[in-house]
Amino acid sequence: MATGYASERKRFVPIRTDSLVDNTAAHFDVYTLLEGGDGNAKPEDFLLYAKAPYTWTLRELTDLTRVGIQDLFIDESQRRNYDRYLRLHLETPEIDRNEEPRFRIRKVQDIGQHLVESCFLSDIDQQVVGKLEGVANELVLCLKEDPKSVHHIQSLAEYDLYTYVHSVGVGTLTTAVAMKMGISDPEELKTYAMGGILHDVGKKLVPLQVLNKPGPLLPEEWEMMKAHPTTGFELLKALDLPKEVLEIVASHHEKIDGSGYPDGLMGNEIPVHVQVATIADIFNALTTTRCYHRKRSRFEALMFMKHHLRGKVSPDVFNALVACLVSEKELKDE
Ligand SMILES: [Fe+2]
Ligand SMILES: [Fe+2]
Repeated sequence: MATGYASERKRFVPIRTDSLVDNTAAHFDVYTLLEGGDGNAKPEDFLLYAKAPYTWTLRELTDLTRVGIQDLFIDESQRRNYDRYLRLHLETPEIDRNEEPRFRIRKVQDIGQHLVESCFLSDIDQQVVGKLEGVANELVLCLKEDPKSVHHIQSLAEYDLYTYVHSVGVGTLTTAVAMKMGISDPEELKTYAMGGILHDVGKKLVPLQVLNKPGPLLPEEWEMMKAHPTTGFELLKALDLPKEVLEIVASHHEKIDGSGYPDGLMGNEIPVHVQVATIADIFNALTTTRCYHRKRSRFEALMFMKHHLRGKVSPDVFNALVACLVSEKELKDE
């Protein structure tokens, strides 16, 4: 993509036709260069071929290459969408399983964040779910090999990355707590990881000004916010996902005393995997700087939860969280 074609309004950059993938939605306009156009092509030499969002088919892509169209063009202002598309559909994450889990988990987290970002910025389809399952699987492998690798996941880097970082962080911690509670079957652990990664996906339909509001929410804003578990469930229910994953998404804000939302479930009405994800979610949120609170240390967060969530979360799950996060020495060192 070294060359570009400038016009007064747009700068066109070539993309390879074979970078487009069958049955995928592209969120960028694609242009063709009319015959005879070259490096000095004028704007009128470019023809809008596919207006976003556009679903490419194998047949169409084959026809294009058959008539010799190897290059297509995009408007540079939509480059970010194209990059995201490439990341989602083409790049196969390369994870070196010989690398130590504490380093490897960072890379897995990074890949997971990009995928969660894709879920938020474009449609969630079976393909992205399949890739997230790959991430969940790698998280389980890292944690099984070295449970302490949970300490090495990255905390918040940039403000607007919050939800993506948070999602993978919750997926990792949910899995680690489940392991502490004695779950060892990799397939079962994978559902914990997937549930944690996807738990807040319904927030993609909450307006950003509500999501990132520093002050208290107005009643109508709070209603929008409270809809995210149900919205997430609705977005995912048609996909091929285990019911445990959907339950985590739908119920991760329920509390065992019935004070949670959306259904006010109580005690055992809330499945254990949901209770684990809930605790991981609260802990991850408390230990991250947000517009409405500063970051707490692990110790402060656990103390906060101990005092403010008494009767609201399962003591057994809370103890498993404590056990998987801290040792006496680590608390003293903090
Ligand atoms: Fe949530
Ligand atoms: Fe969350």
